Amino acid sequence: MSGQTQLLPVSKRHILFQGDTCAISDATTLENMQVAADAVRQPGTLVAFPTETVYGLGGSAFSDESVGAIYKAKNRPADNPLIVHVASAAQAERLLLPQTHRIPEVYAPLVLRFWPGPLTILLPVESGSRVSALATVGQATVAVRVPGDAVARALIAMSDTPLAAPSANASTRPSPTLASHVMHDLAGKVPLVLDGGACRVGLELTVVDGLVDPPVLLRPGGISVEQIRLCGGRWLLLAVGKSSAGAHEAVRTPGMKYRHYSPTAQVVLFEACGDGRAAVKKYVDGVQGKVGLLRAARFSLAAEMGICAEERSMGATEQAVARLMFRLLREMDDLGVDVILVEGVGDDGDGLAVMNRLRKAAAVVVRAGSWAADAGQTAQG
Ligand code: TXA
Ligand code: MG
Repeated sequence: MSGQTQLLPVSKRHILFQGDTCAISDATTLENMQVAADAVRQPGTLVAFPTETVYGLGGSAFSDESVGAIYKAKNRPADNPLIVHVASAAQAERLLLPQTHRIPEVYAPLVLRFWPGPLTILLPVESGSRVSALATVGQATVAVRVPGDAVARALIAMSDTPLAAPSANASTRPSPTLASHVMHDLAGKVPLVLDGGACRVGLELTVVDGLVDPPVLLRPGGISVEQIRLCGGRWLLLAVGKSSAGAHEAVRTPGMKYRHYSPTAQVVLFEACGDGRAAVKKYVDGVQGKVGLLRAARFSLAAEMGICAEERSMGATEQAVARLMFRLLREMDDLGVDVILVEGVGDDGDGLAVMNRLRKAAAVVVRAGSWAADAGQTAQG
């Protein structure tokens, strides 16, 4: 589509779920949710909506026209399958599993503990499945999640339509955590954006495949490896896959091979560089243009030296960094920065997902004094 994009405000505080049914106590929210739910049911009509991780660009998972429109609006490569969002596990069993009507037993502890929430699981594509083959890219599995955000769940419940949705950014741009980010990237390309405020988690969710033995982590995200292993049984053996792959390598999560999450400015990631004073100074000396710094817990001294034109704190914990990182990468672009220096965090817990995204965004990685251009990521995504 090309035309006007309507921004519809909604208040998640006024959406209440009891079991799988939702009640909306605010008139504007109810009206706007109804408009969006009616629209998203229509083949070819997309709605951007908040989830607790990032904003999604959704269309009916049952419609080739809708799913095709998603790839087109984002300019997304057609070999990168989409996550299907459902309102509840019961809705997934009713609408996505026409043969068994049962989510495979292996997922029971994860579904119980993490849904609704930032975890995606792979389900088999059963015969008679109505999910568009464009969404699964013809694979034998379909990636499914129940978002924790009340706006997202209500949209799916009210339309009774599973929504295929990637993050609502233009392909390769940082994922959107505010409705204004969606407008920046997609205004004129989607008819409706639901504005439900800032996303709580701030980066994409975890993807796991429990249909193989041992189960595999396909993408680190809002739920950590440690949390999943605590579910016990086969999940104790959860294998952590590679976080990136070469452009020509066959991968089970096709999205892994594309460069992602990049602002326009060049991102330079600092790993294991202590308080950053020596490494930042050394790096900045050789840089032309306006330099910005995004710091985490340890780079405050580098910031105090005043060698960067712009400087922002992402926060002192991995969780805080996860929440603000995409927003601040975009903000640095808005400030006209040419090079963004980013303080990395450790790879434990939530840090794994943060570093997975930062390494994909980075053109250069500086490790304790040495640096190398990241040659691993070549394709556009
Ligand atoms: O938080 C999020 O993950 C957001 C919100 C909107 O849900 N979604 C998102 O989707 O960022 P996207 O398209 O950027 O990432 C989906 C990931 C990709 O790495 C894709 O390759 C993988 O899930 N995926 C989807 N279907 C798959 C499948 N059947 N098998 C393996 N990987 C799959
Ligand atoms: Mg994405």
